[in-house]
Amino acid sequence: MGRIIIFTGKGGVGKTSTAAAHAVKAAKGGKKTLIVSTDMAHNLSDIFEKKIKEEPVEVINNLYALEIDPNHEMDKHYGSISKAFKNMIPNLDEESSESLEDIVVFPGIEELFSLIKIKELYDKNIYDLIIVDCAPTGETLSLLKFPELLSWYMEKLFPIEKIALKVLRPISKIAFKLEMPDEIAMNDVEKLYVKLGSLQELLKNKDVCSIRIVTIPEKMVVEESKRSYMYLNLYNFNVDGLYINRIIPQDIENSFFDKWKQLQNDYLDELNCVFGSIPTYKIKWYEVDINGIEGLDRIAKDSLTDEHLFEVLKTTPNETFEKIENGYRLEIYIPFADKTDFDLLESGTDIIIKIGNFKRNIPIPNVIRKYSISSAKLEDEKLSIIFE
Ligand SMILES: Nc1ncnc2c1ncn2[C@@H]1O[C@H](COP(=O)(O)OP(=O)(O)O)[C@@H](O)[C@H]1O
Ligand SMILES: [Mg+2]
Repeated sequence: MGRIIIFTGKGGVGKTSTAAAHAVKAAKGGKKTLIVSTDMAHNLSDIFEKKIKEEPVEVINNLYALEIDPNHEMDKHYGSISKAFKNMIPNLDEESSESLEDIVVFPGIEELFSLIKIKELYDKNIYDLIIVDCAPTGETLSLLKFPELLSWYMEKLFPIEKIALKVLRPISKIAFKLEMPDEIAMNDVEKLYVKLGSLQELLKNKDVCSIRIVTIPEKMVVEESKRSYMYLNLYNFNVDGLYINRIIPQDIENSFFDKWKQLQNDYLDELNCVFGSIPTYKIKWYEVDINGIEGLDRIAKDSLTDEHLFEVLKTTPNETFEKIENGYRLEIYIPFADKTDFDLLESGTDIIIKIGNFKRNIPIPNVIRKYSISSAKLEDEKLSIIFE
C-alpha cells in the first residue's frame, strides 16, 4: 500500500523546500516517489531546476514531479459540472440564503480537482510514496473540507439516492427554484460524487495519508499553525508531524541576532507545549536559499534523519459514538478550540459543529436520530456530545 504525505502551512514558511527534501531523501533511499504541487504558484520547476508540467517527469532516479493545473483537470473531465453548479444556485431571500450559504457556495471548487488527480495517481499504484506540496493553509483547509462538504451537499440536493428527497423536505419550505442539471452534467455529477466518496476515504485513511504542518517560530505563523491543526482534527485528518523551519543557528555570534534568538526560543517553547505530542523536526535557517538537489540534501542530512520519517508517526483518535446509560456519547478530538468561538447545531440528520469560519456536518447514525442532544462540553481537547 502506497503512502501519501501532505505538507501544509502558511505561504513562505518552507513547505515546498521541506516537501522536496523529503522527496529527494525518499527517492535516494530507494522509494519510487512522486512529488505533486497543488499550489497555483508552482515552484517545483525552480527548486528542481527542471521544467515540470501536468504529467509526471523524472527529476532524479526514482523521483518524479508533477505540477497540477486544477482548471485543466476540471475542464478535461468535468466541463459540464461547473456550469450546472452555477445554474443550480437558487435565488433565495436573505434569511434563507444565509442558512444555505455554506452549502451552496463553493469558492475555489477547482482546487478539488487537484485532489481527485492525486487519488487517480494513487490508484494507479505506481509510486511507493506521493508527497503533496499544498497551497497555503487557508486554501488547503478548504481543499480538505471540500470533499466532505460537497458530498454532503450532493446527497441533499441531487436525486442520486432516494433518501435525498426525504432529506430535502425539512428545508423545502424555503422556496427552492433549482434548475436541475441536464443529463450530461448529471452523469458527471454522479461520477464526481462517487469519486469524492472514495477521495474522502483515502484522505482520512490514517494508514495511507499523513498531514504534516510546516511552521516557523514567529507569532502569526505559530497562531495559524495551531488553528489549522485544530481544523484538521475537526475534519478527522491525521496530522502526524510538525516542521519548524528557519531556526537561527545558536552558534551565530552576532549581537544583531541576540534578540531574535530569544524571540525564537520563546516561540519554540510555545510550539513544544502545544504540539508536544506530535513528532517535531527542526530545520535551521541556512545562509542561502534552498535550491537544487544539493540544497535539499542539506535539509535531509541536517534535519530529516528519523528512520521512520515516511511512516505513520502518530495516529490521532477518530470520532467515536459510544453507548451510555440513557443514550449515546459522541467524542471528537479538537485541540485548542476556543469555547467562545464555538457553535453546535442539530439538523435532524446531522450535527453541525461550527468553529470560526469552519463548519463540519457529522451525519448522525440512524440509531441515534431518535435521541436529541442533552449536553455538550469541550474539555481536555475533546468535544463530548451527549444524546439522550
Ligand atoms: N531554512 C531555510 N533557510 C534558508 N532559506 C529557506 C529556508 N527555508 C526556505 N527557504 C527559502 O525561502 C523561500 C520560501 O520557501 P518555500 O519552500 O518556497 O516556501 P513555501 O513553499 O512555504 O512558500 C525559498 O526561496 C526558499 O529557498
Ligand atoms: Mg511553495
